[in-house]
Formats: sequence, C-alpha cells, structure tokens
Amino acid sequence: MSRLSRFCTISDALICVTAILVLRLILTFVWNRRWLYYHGSKFPGPVAFPLIGNMYLLEDVKKIHATICKYYDKYAPIGRFWIDTLYVCTSKAEYVEKVFTRCLDKGILYDIIADDYFKDTIIFAPLSVWKKQRKVMDHFFKPNVVNCFASIFIREARRVTENLEVGKPVDLFLNMWNLGTNAACETIGGVHPKLLTGKKQSVRDVLRFEEIVLKRFFNPLYFFKYFWDRSSYKNEIREICQRAHQFAEKMVDENESLKKITQDGEKRLLSHLIHSNHENQFSYELLLRIASTLLPISSETTAVGASSVLLMLGMHPEVQEKVSEELQSVFGHSDRDATLEDLSQLDYLDRVIKESLRLFPPLPLIGREINRNFALDPYVLPAGCRFVVLVQHIHRNPEYWSEPLKFDPDRFLPEETAKRNRFAYIPFSIGSRNCPGSRYAMLSMKATLATVLRRYKIAKVMDYRSVEEIELTFSFVGKASKGYRVVLEKKCQS
Ligand code: HEM
Repeated sequence: MSRLSRFCTISDALICVTAILVLRLILTFVWNRRWLYYHGSKFPGPVAFPLIGNMYLLEDVKKIHATICKYYDKYAPIGRFWIDTLYVCTSKAEYVEKVFTRCLDKGILYDIIADDYFKDTIIFAPLSVWKKQRKVMDHFFKPNVVNCFASIFIREARRVTENLEVGKPVDLFLNMWNLGTNAACETIGGVHPKLLTGKKQSVRDVLRFEEIVLKRFFNPLYFFKYFWDRSSYKNEIREICQRAHQFAEKMVDENESLKKITQDGEKRLLSHLIHSNHENQFSYELLLRIASTLLPISSETTAVGASSVLLMLGMHPEVQEKVSEELQSVFGHSDRDATLEDLSQLDYLDRVIKESLRLFPPLPLIGREINRNFALDPYVLPAGCRFVVLVQHIHRNPEYWSEPLKFDPDRFLPEETAKRNRFAYIPFSIGSRNCPGSRYAMLSMKATLATVLRRYKIAKVMDYRSVEEIELTFSFVGKASKGYRVVLEKKCQS
C-alpha cells in the first residue's frame, strides 16, 4: 500500500471516529432533554428551529420586552420560546401561585447577571447561601426600622426639589435615581452621602452594566465561559465592578458604626449584617458584594417607580388634583418637612403609587429555574426549563382587571383588593423569594412624591399621550422607552 493511500485511510478513519463522537454527543444531549422536548411541544409558541430555537425573532436586544410581548400575546396566558432551553412564559395568576410558592431557584440566568462579581449575594445566590442573608434582611426591613428612614428620604427629596427647572421639559428619572442613591448610602451603608464621591459615576456604570449583560444573554457564544472571559465586554464589566466594590469599600471604611456597635448603627443594613455575622458567615468580600448589589437595585427600581407615577399624574389631571387636595388637607399651605405621621395619612397617594406599579412594574420579567416537573393543568412544566412571569401582563390581564389600561387608583381600595386573586398583583414578586425591600421602596417613593408634589404640578407629559404609548425597554429594570420628560409648574405656597 502506498504512503498516500495509507494516510487517506488513517484520516478517513479519524473523520469517521470524530463524526461518530459528535453524533453521539448530540444524541446524548437530545436524549437527556427528551422530556423537555416532549412537554415543551405541548405549549403553544412560535416556530422554533434546531440549534437557534426562537433566537431569530430577536432583532434588537433593547426591544426584548416588546418582542416577547408581541409574540406572547398570540399565545397568552401561557406560551413557550426556545432559546438555550425551554422558556415558558405566563400571565396567569394561578400558574404563578403554583410555581412561586414551591420553587425558589433562580438558576443560570441569574448566574449570568451575577457573573463572578455579585455571586452569592442575596438576589443571585443558590438557596443554601441565600437563606442566611434572607433571614438577616427580613429581620432588618421590619416596619420599626424602615420607618426611621422617612426623614432621610424626605431630606433627600427636599434637596432635589430645590433645584428643579420649571416651564420646560425635564426628565426627572436621573434626579430620582441620584436621590435614591444618596438615601441608600445612608440607610444601607450607614454613611452620609456627602462623604462619598463617585455616586454619579456609579449610576452611569449600572446603566452600562445592564446593557452589557443583556448583550451577553443574546449571544449564545457568551453562554460559554471560555468565550465570555475573552471578550472585551468582560473587561469592561470587570472595571465597572471594581469601581462598584471600591465604592462599597469606602462605605464600609467610612462607616464608624461598623466598628463599634451603637443603637443607631444597628439601623443601617451593612452594620446590621456585620453584627448578625456571628459565625463569620459573611466574609468581608461578600459584604462588599452585597452592598454593591443593593445600592443600585434599591435606587434604580424606586426611581423608575416614582418617575412612572409622575408620568401618570401628568396624563391624568383629575387624579393629580385629588393628590393635591389630599396633600393640602394634611399640610395646608405650610412648607414644613413631612413626618412619618403625615405620610401615613396619604392614603390616596398610596393607591396612586400602587396603580402605577400595576401598569409599569419596575421588574416586568421575573423567573425561576424549574428543577422538578410541575403540573400546570393541562400542561406539564418539565424539569430543566425556565419559568418566566410576565408581570406587566398579569397586571393587565382582563381576567383580573376590568378596563386594564385605565389608570384607576381606587382599584386598591381595601374592599377591591380583597376581591382579587393576590397573585394577580405582584410588583414585588410573591412567595418566600419576594422583595424584602418592598416596605422601604413604598416609603421612599411616597416621601419623595409627597415632597415633589407639594411644590410642583406636572403641567405636561412630553413624549406620550396615553398609557398604551409607553413601551418598556428592558434591561432587568423596565424603563419607559422615551424617558420620563415632563414640564413642571411651581405651586403657590404662602
Ligand atoms: C419599586 C421598587 C422595587 C421593586 C418594584 C422591587 C421588586 C422586586 C422583585 C420583583 C423582586 C424579585 C425578583 C426575582 O424574583 O427575580 C425583588 C427582589 C429583591 N429586592 Fe426588590 N424591588 C424594589 C425595591 C427594592 C429595594 C428598595 C430593596 C432594598 C433596599 C430591594 C431589595 C431586593 C432584594 C434583596 C431582592 C432579592 C430577594 C431574594 O432573592 O430573596 N428591592 N425586588
């Protein structure tokens, strides 16, 4: 046999063996996921192709929320998408109840957001790690502690209201965010915001971080750590996270109350975590990561929440008028600072905030990793799939809400709330993995809005004429796609 023909035989054999191995890998992969394919095929959804699934539907990552809504609407109240695995989306409260009361795992999607920098922090942590942090947080966010923060929220809101421009379009979102960051430095970090520099950079960093993580989600190559670690985005994320950790470090160092236990110190989250750290369950690095996660999460969500309320009031003058009357009845013409007692009397404002969170939940998509089969009559949610709750869709589902697009705060009168399925309103999620900061968030938004609305009227909303026109761009936090521009008018105060 000539050398050439011997070489051909060897290379042919190698190709054959490789092909058999690859085929075997593919068949094993498919065989292991057979139940996923079987049960997944029963859910309605758009045509999916091998390898790419439904990725072809996604034209622009920034429009992911709008794209999901567009296709999902055809299959509501439950529909499926294939991306790297099966995603089952729903807007049915009964399905949410079944899954969210039993399944607490967030899984790989949250791991991707957490990357190496925020891993093991409460929002992303695996259950065993999560439990310890959650216990401490639930203890911290009790009414008697959160109520002490009212004066901080009011002071920061007052500072913002002193410099607002009237008579021309202003987007108050960044003002709200900066306000939330200042308040969080003090309530979470225990440091007066004046002592910390780099707060504005931290807001820019969060926005860029979210943009990059979204890009990672929708590039299948970046699901492989090997490619992700070698991408330029990874470097950028590393720099952003280093800045976030340095910021948290300054907070820890500045915070005297972390070193000596004082009664007041115990009312700040970081010091509370440190004082609850009996068996060194939280390392110094983990504390930094927790602080770096909570600061943006708390300020961005509340900023979106408060900004949406301002848009809604500008669009609904009759509701704004009622809010003004309520403020007038509590404060008269006085310019004094509000107190916790004053805020507790603002029932109508409370309902306005709730109604706005219904139409524009700051976290419009929340998910769970399914690790065992769930019966969702008439379907089976198979282990290995991801369950995505379309919060905004549940909040607008006509099965639970009459005239869903109408802005009507009285839906939250106690007698109306009592009639409703409680899983139909979940801006703060539901079950044991719900938002521990909901009380903090409501108080912060209420204090801020009361302070702004005592001094200003929302005279005009710039970029939208109706609720339907406000589309959300989604990068974890759902923001109005054209921003929150309004025109303010100063109110007369004697
Ligand atoms: C309007 C403002 C807010 C909204 C709408 C909101 C909403 C949510 C939602 C829906 C979740 C569940 C996420 C999921 O399951 O994937 C969540 C989790 C969480 N939120 Fe909030 N949140 C807000 C403000 C805050 C604030 C102010 C804090 C802290 C000060 C906070 C701390 C957390 C934490 C630590 C978690 C993770 C809980 C866990 O996994 O056990 N949130 N939030």
